[in-house]
Amino acid sequence: MIEKVVSLSKRRGFVFQSSEIYGGLNGCWDYGPLGVELLKNIKEEWWKSMTYREDIEGLDASILMHPKVWEASGHVANFTDPMIDCKQCKARFRVDTLGDAISEKKKKKIIRAFEENLSDENKEKLNDIYNIHEELDERFEAILESKDLSFELLSEVNCPNCGNKGQFTEPRNFNLMFKTFVGPVESEDNVVFLRPETAQGIFVNFVNVLNSSRQKLPFGIAQIGKAFRNEINTKNFLFRTREFEQMEMQYFVKPSDDKKHYDEWKESRIAWYKNLGISEDKLRFHDHPADKLAHYAKEATDVEYEFPFGWGEIEGIHNRTDFDLSKHQEFSGKSQQYFDDETKERFIPYIIETSAGASRSFMAFLVDAYHEEEVNGEQRVVMSFHPKLAPIKVAIFPLVNKDRMPEVAREIEADLRPFMKVFYDSKGAVGRRYRRQDEAGTPYCITVDNQTLDDRTVTVRERDSMEQERVSIDELLPVLLNKLK
Ligand code: GAP
Repeated sequence: MIEKVVSLSKRRGFVFQSSEIYGGLNGCWDYGPLGVELLKNIKEEWWKSMTYREDIEGLDASILMHPKVWEASGHVANFTDPMIDCKQCKARFRVDTLGDAISEKKKKKIIRAFEENLSDENKEKLNDIYNIHEELDERFEAILESKDLSFELLSEVNCPNCGNKGQFTEPRNFNLMFKTFVGPVESEDNVVFLRPETAQGIFVNFVNVLNSSRQKLPFGIAQIGKAFRNEINTKNFLFRTREFEQMEMQYFVKPSDDKKHYDEWKESRIAWYKNLGISEDKLRFHDHPADKLAHYAKEATDVEYEFPFGWGEIEGIHNRTDFDLSKHQEFSGKSQQYFDDETKERFIPYIIETSAGASRSFMAFLVDAYHEEEVNGEQRVVMSFHPKLAPIKVAIFPLVNKDRMPEVAREIEADLRPFMKVFYDSKGAVGRRYRRQDEAGTPYCITVDNQTLDDRTVTVRERDSMEQERVSIDELLPVLLNKLK
């Protein structure tokens, strides 16, 4: 199914491979005319839901930041993936993903052989893993993630690329941040990083926003922007890319209120996806177990969507405690404390973070909208986007290109254009024009026909039900605005 979505994306102009005429650039994608509208609408809905309220302010921080930011945040030391190379074919892999392509039967066999050769010291470490994880897959992944055990397990594993057994280099840590230089001199002193998350731009502006907006706890700062990660393995279309967009909101709270706000944001974020039409049965939370929490988190959950290749995270919700502001206070020497007028206390607020991928959400909305159905013996592909997200809101067709129908259709187009994205199409049979708009996900199509010339009414056809109603041209704008709400 994913192949069909990728193919439709290219054919209809949602997503193209980056630099395609040069063979493409791995992990980078371009949004075409329909894609850029869909992405913009997703971001707009998120922005409205976050900042059209009293307690959340917007921000747009720069992508390049002072290099100390990434030392304070822990990214220089910790934002790494363990990586190995196959000595035979030179293919490179993220160690923890090596189990993905191995069958359960094979995993059992590999683990049995690995257990037989273990030293006593490592047997104890293995027991610790077995005490935490019961499932085979989880045990396998935990062994791969263990610094002490992974290399021994790997001696039993075949290279997913060339099939040779146990021919891997020792795992090495690979930092995922892209490096570049400010100014003309390419020296270590001038190194800066492309931000791997937008969140740090918010943390370092906490005091600026607090002072300029005169907010009181609890309050949030929201930001949408590009982030860059030099992922070892990009995969699954837009799911894991090297350049992507995030929609992040950091909510600053009193430490004693952290649990309450964490739970509230969890519910409100999953509801956002449901309200924009994502199938409820394809959404779930995945709470992080204590031994898998990121170094900054006290509690964390992922909002997951069931993609055709399995469940995958589209958003992370984290209780980041006072970790980030404390670190920035320590590294910058500038106080990040909040003064509470009522209790007269000074403290560093806790942060509840909601971190959504705009590009990953885009992919979830795209996949979820894709439907194939048979209508009168013919196959139709329809993208059932929520009207708020649909790239084109209304298409306008003259039934035939004569008898003043094109002129009336153009008049309607001119009336609607200031209010919504419209598309004028006069080519081919009207049934085919409907099919083209179904594939683009356009919720309403207006047809100017013979009756229009008599009574100034048009047909308005709804995409999913394909039902048609007649609406007076004079009523068209309010009727459509109401339907698109
Ligand atoms: N500030 C916290 C943070 O960045 P994360 O879980 O690493 O947390 C948050 O990323 C979201 O960003 C993910 O849920 C995902 O939607 C998106 N994301 C992360 N890495 C990505 C990648 N390589 N490609 C596309 N989206 C990505």
